[in-house]
Amino acid sequence: MSTQTINLTLKVWRQNGPADKGRLETYYAKNISKDMSFLEMLDVVNEGLSQKGLDPIAFDSDCREGICGMCGAMVNGQAHGPESETTLCQLHMRHFKDGDKLYIEPFRARAFKIIKDLVIDRSAFDKIIQKGGYISVNTGGAQDANAIPVPLLNSTLAMDAAACIGCGACVASCPNASAMLFVSAKVSHLALLPQGQPEAARRSIKMVCEMDSLGFGNCSNERECEAACPKGISIQNIARLNREYIKSALFSKESV
Ligand code: SF4
Ligand code: FES
Repeated sequence: MSTQTINLTLKVWRQNGPADKGRLETYYAKNISKDMSFLEMLDVVNEGLSQKGLDPIAFDSDCREGICGMCGAMVNGQAHGPESETTLCQLHMRHFKDGDKLYIEPFRARAFKIIKDLVIDRSAFDKIIQKGGYISVNTGGAQDANAIPVPLLNSTLAMDAAACIGCGACVASCPNASAMLFVSAKVSHLALLPQGQPEAARRSIKMVCEMDSLGFGNCSNERECEAACPKGISIQNIARLNREYIKSALFSKESV
């Protein structure tokens, strides 16, 4: 075997559908190039399974460049694997050693149903966004971008919050399966900009209520979400969400 390739034992969660009990199955990933991404390694394993007439491992991906939020799995208990601020599609096999045994499981949370194997249903996030993660004011075209001055610190923090790709690693890593980091990123990037103000009074209440009703837990300052987030979203956003929520509760007519 070349030093540029490794052999791995994979324990992969296989589940035929939401109602299936699921189980871990063992596969061997042989002669895996260290230059491959984690998903490319799974592609190789799947090719082997298909050639044998077996059902390939179902997993989600789209961009494979860390921007769409479709990929994600627990690797040895860590969301998106062992590298910080790295999505599963951007995780490379050079971070693993020859002979490693990897447990690969889906993101688990009551609000994320398992569709098949590593594929989960993240539509609960869409439902939360539909409650207020948008603006409805007309902000004009690209040439109007500088017409509304925004302080540099606010635009920087808003941009940082807007980096959230909605992958769900924060939920999967939190002992409460809380979606607070996700919701706080969405609330923050709008709360920090003047364009986000018209709906600010009701946005946080509506989004937090929807999060609660969908079965996500609350934040108890574990900070596991922040550690797992591939986009480095800070829990300072959760503090901002809490302030926005209290402001909304005090000054808006929305019921809490
Ligand atoms: S806050 Fe981070 S971990 Fe959570 S959904 Fe957004 S990008 Fe993913
Ligand atoms: S496939 Fe798009 S972020 Fe991983």
